[in-house]
Amino acid sequence: MHMVDCIAKKRNGEEHSSDEIKELITAYTRGDIPDYQMAAWLMAVYLNGMSAEETSAMTRAMAQSGKVMNLDAVSGIKVDKHSTGGVADTTTLVVAPLVAAAGVPVSKMSGRGLGFTGGTIDKLESIPGFRTMLTEEEFIANLNVHGLAVTGQTPNIAPADGRIYALRDVTATVESIPLIASSIMSKKIAAGADKILLDVKVGRGAFMKSIDKAVELAQTMVTIGETVGRQTVAVLTNMEEPLGQAVGNSLEVWEALEILKGKGCQALRELCLILGAHMMVLANQAATLQQAYTILEKFLLDGLALAKFCEFIEAQGGNAAVAQNYNLLPQAKYQKQIKACQTGYIQSILADQIGYAAMRLGAGREFKEQPIDLAAGILLHCRVGDRVEKDQVIATVYASHSQKLSLAGAIIEKAIFVTASPVNTLPLLLGFVDKNGYKPI
Ligand code: URA
Ligand code: CA
Repeated sequence: MHMVDCIAKKRNGEEHSSDEIKELITAYTRGDIPDYQMAAWLMAVYLNGMSAEETSAMTRAMAQSGKVMNLDAVSGIKVDKHSTGGVADTTTLVVAPLVAAAGVPVSKMSGRGLGFTGGTIDKLESIPGFRTMLTEEEFIANLNVHGLAVTGQTPNIAPADGRIYALRDVTATVESIPLIASSIMSKKIAAGADKILLDVKVGRGAFMKSIDKAVELAQTMVTIGETVGRQTVAVLTNMEEPLGQAVGNSLEVWEALEILKGKGCQALRELCLILGAHMMVLANQAATLQQAYTILEKFLLDGLALAKFCEFIEAQGGNAAVAQNYNLLPQAKYQKQIKACQTGYIQSILADQIGYAAMRLGAGREFKEQPIDLAAGILLHCRVGDRVEKDQVIATVYASHSQKLSLAGAIIEKAIFVTASPVNTLPLLLGFVDKNGYKPI
């Protein structure tokens, strides 16, 4: 089929055959379709959507556009966990060693942060010596020996998605459920895990601002996973306020270590236990979520999860002494305290604005491949619903440049609202999606 006919077909709201989708994606990846035609087709998809069959075909074609990892050499059921991206979302750094300690092999290919969402690879790079690019042999060897390996995504994993995502980014076609779902799932499928746990974030700090849209995205991704034979489940979680206390790379490593020591922010800790429990059940390492939760909670308290994290750091060349000596993590030169303007209750902490402030501090990227400042970031000392006194410190800002400190400080002051009357805390868990459908909490 000629590309101009494909564009017209999608423009007219018709459905492509799986073969047409495959041909289109393959031809674009080969360089046989110019960006202007692909951009027009993507806009037609953005406006008219895609059927479940079209979305699955697109996912498969993108997954098969490069290398599909074969993890058969690793014993056990490999479970991947993926977050659609949020602010102060440090779950991977905690959940990965936690479930690995409990016998679930965790093979993870992670990305770098972009915009106001952070990336696990950047966070890990704040650990001195830590290597985030493993060869395939090292990745598999580490999985077999330690039950845990995390590597950056190589360019040969779903290269079609890499090119299409870059084009979507500059043609206002990112926010399309079938395009987001196929983009994420193509990378998960190519990365080779047997089962996939998705953490779909909902709220102002997430791609999906409403629960309805988040359910639709989750259902689309679960359907794709099940269609290609990878059991997939999704939890829907709140991203109105930042999840944890720390926003920024070395600060998030600090927070993960605190949780692995049995301490730390309660919401982040709770979500790590919930995600970990789902991974245990998916990997057949526990019969029920409750049983899995109890096992994992014990692993946080008795130090086994922390020991696994240290083992993992050393296996990837990092200095595990950071676990005991936080001064080994990159330290910011300047700090500023943000204080409550009145006595009362925290009404909201705008996750997108906090993420934006962290990005302006240098903790995140405004564009791809921009260098970032691993020491910069924000520590939040309150959550929605907390009572605060006037002038109580509610956040600390960390920066390497004093101008950035004042700029970010001004954004943060406007992102945290205090009100006189009591405020309810926000629910953490909003729902759950598996092949049987959506269950609200
Ligand atoms: N994350 C992805 O990997 N792809 C998208 O399209 C959106 C978020
Ligand atoms: Ca993402």
